[in-house]
Amino acid sequence: MRFEHVLVVGAGQMGGGIAQVVAASGRRVSLYDEVSDAVERARGAMEKSLGKLAEKGGAAPDEVLGRVSHVEKIVAADLMIEAVVENAEVKEDVFRRADQTFPPEAILASNTSSIPITSLASVTSRPDKVVGMHFFNPVPVLQLVEVIRALQTSDETAAAIVALAEDLGKTPAEANDFPGFVSNRILMPFVNEAAYALMEGVAAAEAIDTIARLGFAHPLGPLALADLIGLDTCVSIMEVLHDGLGDPKYAPCPLLRQYVAAGRLGRKSGRGFYDYP
Ligand SMILES: NC(=O)c1ccc[n+]([C@@H]2O[C@H](COP(=O)([O-])OP(=O)(O)OC[C@H]3O[C@@H](n4cnc5c(N)ncnc54)[C@H](O)[C@@H]3O)[C@@H](O)[C@H]2O)c1
Repeated sequence: MRFEHVLVVGAGQMGGGIAQVVAASGRRVSLYDEVSDAVERARGAMEKSLGKLAEKGGAAPDEVLGRVSHVEKIVAADLMIEAVVENAEVKEDVFRRADQTFPPEAILASNTSSIPITSLASVTSRPDKVVGMHFFNPVPVLQLVEVIRALQTSDETAAAIVALAEDLGKTPAEANDFPGFVSNRILMPFVNEAAYALMEGVAAAEAIDTIARLGFAHPLGPLALADLIGLDTCVSIMEVLHDGLGDPKYAPCPLLRQYVAAGRLGRKSGRGFYDYP
């Protein structure tokens, strides 16, 4: 399966990045967001990112952007990659609508960080063709794609998405459908513990991040990384881990919840653990 035409639903930081890498591979992309200026903002971010990549020998930005169309609704394609907010009801609604619009042989993938792929598959008439395709932020830079099999996902569907990830120049790693899959089950307790260390006054944010960067050779400390992911998204993922695994150790730190309640969502809102003027 070549997936010549891909619909990306959700044009936030992840959807825009996914649209960019899919278009850079020569495929046609339709990009849909319920907030129509989100697509224009995503195109602006793509232009900037493609400009930087072109300086290092990447494809011409105009050529890549020429393959990305703004669509005003869910339109049929060979593959959907859903990247809307981390909310099960919103995602299930997108999957229901895509299932009604897409041809029966098409695959429906989700970039969710934690919502069970098995539940998304269950709201469609093609559960064997539903799969998790979890990219990492920033999508044009990070190599990993976590490919998640729902209980119902067929071998053919998983293999087609593994092959697509490779064709996009990424490295796929397969995981089964358990809360948080592998990546966020490991990452989120780390982020949460850093938030507790800050809340309890163990150290300042900069010191916590310096310890992780220099002590563990991480490119970003956990608080700066949480700001990049979005604190709202982090809290949503932790709630899925907490509900799904039933262990209080996964409950989001009160400081994270408080920042989200105050609209301090990280880079995307201009302020999180740090300020982004
Ligand atoms: N941020 C990260 O680092 C990261 C990494 C991997 C995966 N993810 C996952 O990717 C998904 C998107 O995250 P993001 O960081 O891009 O979020 P974001 O808040 O930047 O963007 C979400 C977009 O979805 C749009 N949207 C909401 N409901 C919609 C609907 N019904 N139809 C169409 N568009 C809709 C919003 O308008 C917004 O533009 C989430 O599931 C998240 O867990 C995020």
